[in-house]
Amino acid sequence: MIISESELLNRMSPERLRHTLSCAESAVKLAERHGADEKYALDAALLHDITRDLSFKNQLKICREHDIILSDIHKKSPALLHAITGSVIAKTEFSAPDPVCDAIRWHTTGRAGMTLLEKIIWVADFIEPGRTGEHVKAVRDAAFSDIDRALLLGIDATIRYLILKSGYIDTDTVEARNEVLKTRKELF
Ligand SMILES: [Fe+2]
Ligand SMILES: [Fe+2]
Repeated sequence: MIISESELLNRMSPERLRHTLSCAESAVKLAERHGADEKYALDAALLHDITRDLSFKNQLKICREHDIILSDIHKKSPALLHAITGSVIAKTEFSAPDPVCDAIRWHTTGRAGMTLLEKIIWVADFIEPGRTGEHVKAVRDAAFSDIDRALLLGIDATIRYLILKSGYIDTDTVEARNEVLKTRKELF
């Protein structure tokens, strides 16, 4: 393991640790099912929320220290920022390989051109056993047979949720959705 349970607990709440470990379990199962690298899936899931419980101020500090230029939206959104700072910490503190850092970087918004590992981490984060609700069940049902379909259902549910609460929809999320539609026309 790239990080121990006790080290995770030093950096996050017990509830976040539970989510992280459940996400790791789902990610490894999905990697096994879809033929992705299981160690990468495990490491990316274990580190995906490594900065989620850091203060916003400390996350901005990480960005400054690593010369990361943030958009105005990122400067206001802890939910989006933790994917960026998480991937930085994965690289600098844990020497995680690039595919793992990329899976962490895109686990919140998705993006066009997602790798299989990136899709697996996005979906595992969405379906881990602690997540509940009708829309989660549909994604979970699809996840082991068709990862693209699961991703699309999950993105659709996320966009619907963001619209309902008048939230910002990241353009990367829209691009991730459109690419699945383009490459898997038969799905819909
Ligand atoms: Fe996250
Ligand atoms: Fe998460």
